[in-house]
Amino acid sequence: MDVTAIILAAGEGTRMKSNHAKVSHQILGKPMACWVIDAALAAGCTRVVVVVGSHSDEVRALISAAYKDTPHAAAIECVEQIERLGTGHAVRVALEETGIAEGPVVVLNGDLPLIQAETIRTFASTVAEGGHAGAILTFTPPEPFGYGRIELAENGSVNRIIEQKDCTPEQAAELTECNAGCYAFDGALLAAHVGEITSDNAQSEYYLPDMVEILKDHGHSVTIFHCDDYRDGLGVNSRAQLAELTGIARGRINARLMAEGVTFIDPAQAWISPDAQIGRDSVVWPQTHLIGACRIGEDCQVGPNTRLTNVVAGNGCTIDETVAIDVVLENNVSCGPRCYLRPGTHMLDGSKAGTHVEIKKSTIGEGSKVPHLSYIGDTTMGSGVNVGAGSITCNYDGKNKHATTIGDRTFIGSDTMMVAPVNIGADAITGASSCITRDVPDGALAIERSDQRVLEGYTERRRARL
Ligand code: UD1
Ligand code: CA
Repeated sequence: MDVTAIILAAGEGTRMKSNHAKVSHQILGKPMACWVIDAALAAGCTRVVVVVGSHSDEVRALISAAYKDTPHAAAIECVEQIERLGTGHAVRVALEETGIAEGPVVVLNGDLPLIQAETIRTFASTVAEGGHAGAILTFTPPEPFGYGRIELAENGSVNRIIEQKDCTPEQAAELTECNAGCYAFDGALLAAHVGEITSDNAQSEYYLPDMVEILKDHGHSVTIFHCDDYRDGLGVNSRAQLAELTGIARGRINARLMAEGVTFIDPAQAWISPDAQIGRDSVVWPQTHLIGACRIGEDCQVGPNTRLTNVVAGNGCTIDETVAIDVVLENNVSCGPRCYLRPGTHMLDGSKAGTHVEIKKSTIGEGSKVPHLSYIGDTTMGSGVNVGAGSITCNYDGKNKHATTIGDRTFIGSDTMMVAPVNIGADAITGASSCITRDVPDGALAIERSDQRVLEGYTERRRARL
């Protein structure tokens, strides 16, 4: 079954009071638009049309960045709704621009991030196989204010949807079943009749929910589908709702991970991306953020006070008070406390980046240790190396970046400055406080510092003088 999804993401999002598109706002590090696109893709939609308008360059760019290297890139396209005349108008523009005029079409509000793929799938088949012209996802939120209300006929079928602003006070009080902003339509009937929506209402907008009455007037069946978990149907119109939905998403993700065997010291204090994986018996400490496609292995300790973005870690790693971005850690790696691992860092088995250590675009070999107060950049380090406290690779000459290599089992004395480009061989030693500007052969000691002078009795002479 080829299902097309149309995602409505062109609105101004006025209530967000933002300089950005509403759908660019993130929930657990992922833009709202991508939550909805991912749900549509996971439901099996083979074509996803995103209607963009307000801040359309920004929305196009974030969609392109999120999917360009994925198998779904070809399935996703954006169409521009230049004038934003309402959700009904947005769908009309999408159909006109793409020429879609048949097959099941699912329409999703772009501000409906918690919608589940399974719901969309069930929904699309209701229309594709159940002989209905349309289906509307409904829910009963604790606070229905702001949502379109479902008016039922005597026989329990849906009559029409009345927007909050068009409700009489009685309707607003009595009708508690709400429109979630997720619809399935027979594409041919949608294309044939979407032009019949008018803007004769309180907001002078073309309302997509009016399709219910229009299809019914043409003698077609429209069904409602009640979503038992009201949280799936919540929309985001304000910052308060953004925070509320972030909390719900966090709770769901952490509950799933706990069910899979991950320990959370306090699940209310860990913000894990929906795209992250964590292996069993790993422990997540408070104030941990995993952003993007992090993959953490088994038996790891993550946090506290840690932010990892697209980090891949093997088993048995300790990642304590660490910020890491686009980094690969193999097994039994130890980081922190207070370490900063930047893109391109690859730490091999049993290696260590300790306290106040920054590493960028470098490979740290098996069992090698950079324990204290170091900066290592553009470096290839062998195995079994020990880098003494305060040692630094001087990789930048003010204009260009240069590489450093350090061979296996080499001992870098404390406070060594390695002025790149420079190669330090295997089994070598650098004397503490040396500034290494020339290559060091295998097995050699390189020492660069002035001889120490000792002036006996100096303190007493100085005191007498002063
Ligand atoms: C809409 C529904 C309401 C439903 C609620 C669910 C309409 C008229 N009302 O109300 O019945 O209960 O969602 O959350 O549809 N958009 C466009 N182009 C436009 C206007 C809007 O793409 O011209 C997009 C917005 O970016 C947004 C979505 O459509 O993602 C919904 O628009 P919004 O203004 O948030 O509608 P609601 O007032 O929440
Ligand atoms: Ca909305």
